[in-house]
Amino acid sequence: MTTEIDDLMKKLVSLCKRRGYIFQSGEIYGGLQSSWDYGPLGVELKRNIEASWWNFMVSTRPDVVGMDSAIITHPDVWKASGHLQHFHDPMVDCMKCKSRFRQDHVEGDRCPECGGELTEPREFGLMFRTSMGALEDESATVYLRPETCQPIFVNFRNVVTATRQRLPFGIAQTGKAFRNEITARNFIFRSREFEQMEMEFFCRPEEADEWFGYWVEQRLRWYGGLGVRDGNLRTRDHEDSELAHYAQSCVDIEYRFPFATGGWGELEGIANRTDYDLRAHMENSGQDLSFQDQVSNEKIVPWVIETSGGVGRTMLAVLLDSYREEMVEGRERVVLGLHRDLAPIKVAVLPLSRKLSERAGEVFEMVRPHLPAMFDVTGSIGKRYRRMDEAGTPYCVTYDFDSIEDGRVTVRERDSLEQIRVPIDSLVDTLTGIMDAGWPKSG
Ligand code: GAP
Repeated sequence: MTTEIDDLMKKLVSLCKRRGYIFQSGEIYGGLQSSWDYGPLGVELKRNIEASWWNFMVSTRPDVVGMDSAIITHPDVWKASGHLQHFHDPMVDCMKCKSRFRQDHVEGDRCPECGGELTEPREFGLMFRTSMGALEDESATVYLRPETCQPIFVNFRNVVTATRQRLPFGIAQTGKAFRNEITARNFIFRSREFEQMEMEFFCRPEEADEWFGYWVEQRLRWYGGLGVRDGNLRTRDHEDSELAHYAQSCVDIEYRFPFATGGWGELEGIANRTDYDLRAHMENSGQDLSFQDQVSNEKIVPWVIETSGGVGRTMLAVLLDSYREEMVEGRERVVLGLHRDLAPIKVAVLPLSRKLSERAGEVFEMVRPHLPAMFDVTGSIGKRYRRMDEAGTPYCVTYDFDSIEDGRVTVRERDSLEQIRVPIDSLVDTLTGIMDAGWPKSG
């Protein structure tokens, strides 16, 4: 079983490199462990995931606004939030092979790699620290944010004043977060630099439970909309013992990651943070962050329902969910069956023969302003289809010798392999229609 999982992960990592999704960072220098660079297709997939999230959580909602805060943060923010005090993991080292583990990731009391004896656990601070300005003394110490939500709390009053939002309402942001994880592993599942998509929803305390349930449902709906299979998603309530110091309750949305202990790994957490953060920042800053209700004239410190997901984990789930190997006409093909909205390249234009490159190039130039498209002339048509299947491109347009005579091209759909013949004059309309509504034959 473990070998099968390793094989699947190896195949996915290799495809990601081959097709330009994800590269090991600093590879030509031997690679920086657990650090990843996103290539030409990876950056598009990442942006498509973030854009989908932003559209779902912000653009289409009157009650959620966005922001984009600095990564280097005032140290007092992390004092107030409890991170300086609580954001540690217990770490153990193997005395024989020198591997290092989070204690709660080790079953038993021996090294999982070599069976060697482990050290006593020590606390390991997870925040990346740096200095601001020319002096490197204590007063210059600042932190890279370990989560994107704290700057939202710190800016609560600014946003309320600027937007005159009424309760309940949310503030959302996406961006980089940094954690000096003891063991970062499983490709982009756990890295030290990653992107979060977080939304803090401020509401009246008595309405918090209702909004909590609402947001769990909404977030599941979003993952479903990305094409993630139902059977591979579930929710899990946190036990009291695993709740973060700020949370009254928390539900994880989990994906059936093949490498995860117990078969499931966290994609996103939805937490009832109560008024913990606003009160902590009020106490530490001496500023009033309560909300003045215009109607009842009451002062309220709102409670917060947080939705907190990771771009990398969503991307990994989407890639694993869409990866498949299958036999077609006696030949194996590897397919990334990405949802058309997420696919980095939507359309590939392929001349059947090099001799048709110029005419096919004109078709490509027609399509390119409307949809992310690619032109590929190298290798046999079969090889080019296979490359596009692996890259996750949902539609290929082939220009053949008949196209010169009848002014039509063939559009091939990646998953069903169905083909339709379409007049070049209406190709752009046909393709944009398919992008909106799906493939006409299978719907
Ligand atoms: N503000 C709450 C918070 O940050 P979290 O459970 O620590 O909660 C939220 O993180 C999400 O961020 C996780 O569900 C995961 O998707 C992502 N995440 C956290 N640590 C990560 C890491 N080291 N590498 C990749 N993604 C990570």
